[in-house]
Amino acid sequence: MERSGTWFKFSAAFFCYLMIVSASLLFRAASVNSEYLIGVGSYDITGPAADVNMMGYAMSGQNAAGIHFRLRSRAFIIAEAATTSSEAKRIAYVNLDACMGSQAVTLSVLSRLKQRYGDLYNEQNVAISGIHTHSGPGGYLQYVIYIITALGFVRQSFDALVDGIETSIVQAHENLKPGAIYLNKDVLLHANINRSPNAYLNNPLAERNRYQYDVDKDMLLLKFVDGTGAAVGALNWFAVHGTSMNNSNLLISGDNKGAASRFMEDWFAKGQIKSSLIREGRAADVNASNSKSTGGSSNTKLSSERNRLRSSTTQSTHFVAAFAQTSSGDVSPNTLGAFCTDTGLPCDFNQSTCDGRNELCIARGPGYPDMFLSTKIIAERQFQKAVDLFEKAQVKLSGRIDYRQTYLNITGVTVSLSPSGTISLPNMTTCPAALGFSFAAGTTDGPGAFDFKQGDNQNLLQWLDGVSEKLSQLR
Ligand SMILES: *[C@@H]1O[C@H](CO)[C@@H](O)[C@H](O)[C@H]1NC(C)=O
Ligand SMILES: *[C@@H]1O[C@H](CO)[C@@H](O)[C@H](O)[C@H]1NC(C)=O
Ligand SMILES: *[C@@H]1O[C@H](CO)[C@@H](O)[C@H](O)[C@H]1NC(C)=O
Ligand SMILES: *[C@@H]1O[C@H](CO)[C@@H](O)[C@H](O)[C@H]1NC(C)=O
Ligand SMILES: *[C@@H]1O[C@H](CO)[C@@H](O)[C@H](O)[C@H]1NC(C)=O
Repeated sequence: MERSGTWFKFSAAFFCYLMIVSASLLFRAASVNSEYLIGVGSYDITGPAADVNMMGYAMSGQNAAGIHFRLRSRAFIIAEAATTSSEAKRIAYVNLDACMGSQAVTLSVLSRLKQRYGDLYNEQNVAISGIHTHSGPGGYLQYVIYIITALGFVRQSFDALVDGIETSIVQAHENLKPGAIYLNKDVLLHANINRSPNAYLNNPLAERNRYQYDVDKDMLLLKFVDGTGAAVGALNWFAVHGTSMNNSNLLISGDNKGAASRFMEDWFAKGQIKSSLIREGRAADVNASNSKSTGGSSNTKLSSERNRLRSSTTQSTHFVAAFAQTSSGDVSPNTLGAFCTDTGLPCDFNQSTCDGRNELCIARGPGYPDMFLSTKIIAERQFQKAVDLFEKAQVKLSGRIDYRQTYLNITGVTVSLSPSGTISLPNMTTCPAALGFSFAAGTTDGPGAFDFKQGDNQNLLQWLDGVSEKLSQLR
């Protein structure tokens, strides 16, 4: 069964919901003048780098064969520093360089946390979220549809995630210390587009008129500082798929968001080295320490200096920067748009096809034809905006911490078809979980096979008729 592209539109939307819930729990301000304890942690979750199917494009044969860069779990814990500990609430937010979270992984992590900390961390106050890279090892989810192309459950993938998440949370827990949180937000252009602009046009005009763009362009950032005002971390949300690396990629990669995290953590570490040298009155070394590698010849003084500073930074100010996913359904990083691989012309607007066929219509990133460059460019755009928001963050959060977590049965939910003020239409209910027929078409980030088409709302028999007609034309 081959399905490239994203069967995760639905789960992405659900993530978005979770994100909003988890983000809003941070901002629920009340009148209490509380102080926070803040802890950050980060640990490797790369997993098996060979022969395991990648999670995301659902493409059999796209099996890992090496590493572009390693994957990490980045954890943030925010606790109320209240006088009576029984009243003090806390939350843990974990951002994974993985396609998505997994209920099986979350339950395992929670049971390990229970052994360590009792009820301090639980289903209600721990949110584990994936950046939606399509280039990490798969097989770690418990539902069949997600592990078909991985040919079942992959213990190594699962264990790497559970171990890494647990360790990152333990680190964050152990370095909890008084601190403050600043909020900032801005629009980031040129880093995402709508990959199904035709589908977007199905929204009522009045609704579309409320928005300037056909995807969410906002980046929202939280800056975490310790009691001395020194930064310890940054966490931001921006909507864009982890599909800068295309479905031919076999190297494990955190795609654009994983790369952005690395860029920001490196940027911060460099700044630490620089300010430390300046403090020691050795400004002349600043330029040298920022210069490129010595190309093998040893620069003993500098490298020992760098090591000393790096080890002191990692111990005292372990800075963690996470680029989290949000409302990314149909939001692509391939900003040049979708083109036909044979003619080089734009694909059919309504169905994302080329001469009636689905497979040849493929989106291009800003570094086209180099997916590594595209990944870097989209990562840099997010990184630059995050640094800008980070440096200018002024709005200090205050108030109590609270959280909401819910399981929602999405079957049988009543939907009103009557816009307010119009004639009354009968209410409808949602059906049991189902994949639409055109789901198999995938997306322009990774088209499916067998000539399924996007936007197709006909039935299977009509599709079979179409296929047999084409076959008879070929004969
Ligand atoms: C570092 O290099 C820049 C130019 O790249 C120069 O303007 C500056 O003076 C240098 N700083 C020191 C301390 O040497
Ligand atoms: C796309 O579909 C709309 C109706 O849904 C139609 O009006 C339009 O002509 C179609 N465009 C193309 C290029 O086929
Ligand atoms: C993926 O990107 C590489 C270049 O980095 C390119 O050679 C290849 O054709 C692309 N594949 C698809 C399916 O877009
Ligand atoms: C969800 O709701 C449907 C319809 O009301 C019901 O048949 C199903 O058993 C429910 N599922 C769960 C897990 O409660
Ligand atoms: C639809 O359901 C809503 C409540 O969810 C109710 O107020 C409304 O009267 C219903 N409309 C019809 C046409 O049954």
